[in-house]
Amino acid sequence: MAVLASGRGSNLQALMDAIAEGTLEADIVGVFSDRSKAVALQRARDAGIPARSLAPKAFASRAEFDAALFAAADEARPDLIVCAGYMRLIDAAVVDARPGRIINIHPSLLPEFKGLHTHQQALDAAATEHGASVHFVTADLDGGPVIAQARVPVLPGDDADTLAARVLEREHPLLVETVRWLAAGRIALAEDGIQVDGVASPPLQLA
Ligand code: GAR
Repeated sequence: MAVLASGRGSNLQALMDAIAEGTLEADIVGVFSDRSKAVALQRARDAGIPARSLAPKAFASRAEFDAALFAAADEARPDLIVCAGYMRLIDAAVVDARPGRIINIHPSLLPEFKGLHTHQQALDAAATEHGASVHFVTADLDGGPVIAQARVPVLPGDDADTLAARVLEREHPLLVETVRWLAAGRIALAEDGIQVDGVASPPLQLA
């Protein structure tokens, strides 16, 4: 897989750790970022994984930037492209050219709370349950078919930071487990959702 990340890279780290421990049979062929200072890039280099950033400002349009970033990722010949804390919208043409090959981890129980500030959105909505989702990326922002989810309670006294920390703890095993299912060839993007072992299925609920 290739991993796209914009910042801290703790989800990337979870993938790298699982591979190093031998619990995830996969390889990360490259890490790509829109931010040269992303900690994720350093994490990759420390692990001997090729890491590269491209500056959106150097391109005339989002479409041109995305085409260049994904062309760079494609050079590494990934089967799967994992957006792990990648904070940019992706051009529809780039997404449409790679059906079922791009996934994203999003910090909410989709379809609830798309976009940014999802933990605050959950608090503002007085949600009693929150969590994270891994979904196929389609041209519909945070709207592609959900593959797997992990749930956490919202507790009295939570603020966006305490809630984010509780969710993040579950994001790491969620992403690793989802990639495991994908690497095993058990999950496919279907017309109107996902298939598990060839059969239409609701999102997996992972611990
Ligand atoms: C994670 O919480 C991820 O779900 C979120 O950014 C964080 C990245 O953390 N992604 C999004 O909000 C995507 N819209 P990390 O850099 O430590 O993996």
